Amino acid sequence: MSSGRERESFLDKFLLPGKVALVTGGSRGIGKTIALGLAEAGADVILASRKLPDLEATAHEISQMGRKALAVPANLRNFPEIENLVKRSIDEFGRVDILVNNAGTNIAFGTSVFDIDERIWQIMIELNLKGYFFLSQGIGRIMRDQNSGTIINTASIRGLMPTVGSGMYAITKAGVIMLTQVLAEEWGQYNIRVNAIAPGMIKTKLTEPVWTDSMRTKEFDDNTALGRFGEPEEMVNAVIFLASEASSYMTGQTLVLDGGQYPSVRRDVSRLRVKGASGESETR
Ligand SMILES: NC(=O)c1ccc[n+]([C@@H]2O[C@H](COP(=O)([O-])OP(=O)(O)OC[C@H]3O[C@@H](n4cnc5c(N)ncnc54)[C@H](OP(=O)(O)O)[C@@H]3O)[C@@H](O)[C@H]2O)c1
Repeated sequence: MSSGRERESFLDKFLLPGKVALVTGGSRGIGKTIALGLAEAGADVILASRKLPDLEATAHEISQMGRKALAVPANLRNFPEIENLVKRSIDEFGRVDILVNNAGTNIAFGTSVFDIDERIWQIMIELNLKGYFFLSQGIGRIMRDQNSGTIINTASIRGLMPTVGSGMYAITKAGVIMLTQVLAEEWGQYNIRVNAIAPGMIKTKLTEPVWTDSMRTKEFDDNTALGRFGEPEEMVNAVIFLASEASSYMTGQTLVLDGGQYPSVRRDVSRLRVKGASGESETR
């Protein structure tokens, strides 16, 4: 931007033409909506999760928008599958500009710390934290060679404050927030920006046990300033902002998108402690 020339449009900085994005958990929920949003902003998109048919359905929607899409089945708990995802991405597109680490689980929802066994610990740490770490490492190396890239991690407001019934999940998401800061600090020198979004309660399969229960829905609504759950679509513009030049001087930050739930998070979850709901079961 300079006074002598016509000024660059502020809005154009949100656009992502020619960019390549990799979105994990792109088969449904928040990840699918983010993938479609990035494609609408102009990016080609690589999608990864375990279930190929679901990924292919998202890929089809993206190709209908005139963008390229690649569906790569991957269990992101497993290092060789992460390595394969990195390889497939570079073989197909030759570069990755945007990484959205989003696939996550909360199979311990409603479970006391006393009842967390080693299996639950492993599943949650491996998907929510190890997967984010090693995919960032693999894609980060590509971004270092490019001398550019943006990484967006889906954290959670649970990672910002300990909450009864979401303790295990909170530990993993606090790790994601610190991972975001660590990578931002180390990789800023390679022009790689790393930020996180911290959603509150968003209507997806992950939170189905809550939004299908009218009593719990009322409790959450009463404890949220905007008085309602969020929709996956409400995450998308924040991700486009973080992925694009619009946020060119922002790194290491966690953007809270919770409808004003965060200040009251202690009150609402204390009521969940004995309800024992669980998130999606882990099949592999
Ligand atoms: N919904 C909320 O209120 C909320 C709030 C805060 C943060 N978040 C975070 O947002 C992210 C997305 O959540 P969501 O609500 O959209 O959940 P969701 O609807 O359950 O979607 C989870 C996604 O992760 C994929 N996935 C699950 N296990 C996987 C594995 N082992 N390897 C690879 N992919 C796997 C799933 O696809 P496959 O089944 O095909 O593998 C799916 O695409 C998560 O990190 C979650 O913790 C959600």
